[in-house]
Amino acid sequence: MYQEPSFKKNIVDWFDKNQRDMPWRETTNPYYIWLSEVMLQQTQVNTVVDYYHKFITRFPSIKSLSDANEDDVLKYWEGLGYYSRVRNFHTAIKEVNHKHGGEVPTDPEIFKKLKGVGPYTLAAVMSIAFNHPLATVDGNVFRVWSRLNNDFRDTKLQTTRKAYETELKPYVQDNSGTFNQAMMELGALICTPKSPLCLFCPVQDHCEAFHNRTTQELPVKTKNIKKRTLNQKVFLIRNDEGKYLLEKRKDKLLNGMWQFPMREASVADNKITKDIGIKIETIKTPIFELRHQFTHMTWNIKVYSVPNSINLSNRLLPDNYTWFDLDDREQYTFPVSMDKIYQFIVG
Ligand code: ADE
Repeated sequence: MYQEPSFKKNIVDWFDKNQRDMPWRETTNPYYIWLSEVMLQQTQVNTVVDYYHKFITRFPSIKSLSDANEDDVLKYWEGLGYYSRVRNFHTAIKEVNHKHGGEVPTDPEIFKKLKGVGPYTLAAVMSIAFNHPLATVDGNVFRVWSRLNNDFRDTKLQTTRKAYETELKPYVQDNSGTFNQAMMELGALICTPKSPLCLFCPVQDHCEAFHNRTTQELPVKTKNIKKRTLNQKVFLIRNDEGKYLLEKRKDKLLNGMWQFPMREASVADNKITKDIGIKIETIKTPIFELRHQFTHMTWNIKVYSVPNSINLSNRLLPDNYTWFDLDDREQYTFPVSMDKIYQFIVG
């Protein structure tokens, strides 16, 4: 046991009084809890609330999500990022619907085999929905637990995560959902990365980093490998009806989302012409430039307007291309970068 039993009581009592209202804390429906945890892995609570409400209004049950087509589901995730997560979630829900009688499995061994369910989702859903004795280890918990124990192990290592899961076991033998959420909530509200509010901390007495004045040095995270930068060219190609050419992404990144045709700057224009079947004569100066950050890379995007010299409307397009009327924005799911370009066009 790393902390005395009073540690759990202190943090849970604090949580009972100070937790934020969140819609998924008012439900026992495991499908909703699961959805919220998938959303929360990518964004702040405040952003998630809105998406969560819209999602469960449109897909209120496992069956309704299972029956939905991927484009429709993606639309409800638009702007949240990490789209492979929702694709995996959708796949998992279809499997639940067809192979598990439409009920989220209560057995962790079965649940963890579902698509996209990693150690965090496993512990979060199984503890919050069913009180299984599993500890959630996310960024908040890394911060809280490393500080409580003045632990300088590298939190980027799998071995450290495993050790944390084991060390936290004694505290999740009962009431695990509440304890796990209390740890995450403390990390979000008190034990924050830059200036933790130690004076208001319910477990200050238990905190070795506080006593050693090392909170600023914890948690240890070895530096991420440097992000790759890709220079991208985007082409605004308009037909004589004023519609813009869009293509559907086939890459693993942002798969299935729509974009104005985009190529790496190093790709030759004649290759692009062949790809799209439309001759591209770009003007030399971009009309707009932007930068988009992913966790693992950066896109530097230059947007070019292509003069439309030929009658394009009747061209037969490859099936992953379409002509897009600016008024039909709602029918397409765009990555954030493409939405910014769209906003630029419509002013
Ligand atoms: N972060 C992710 N899931 C959470 C939860 N259920 N409570 C608090 N913070 C969280």
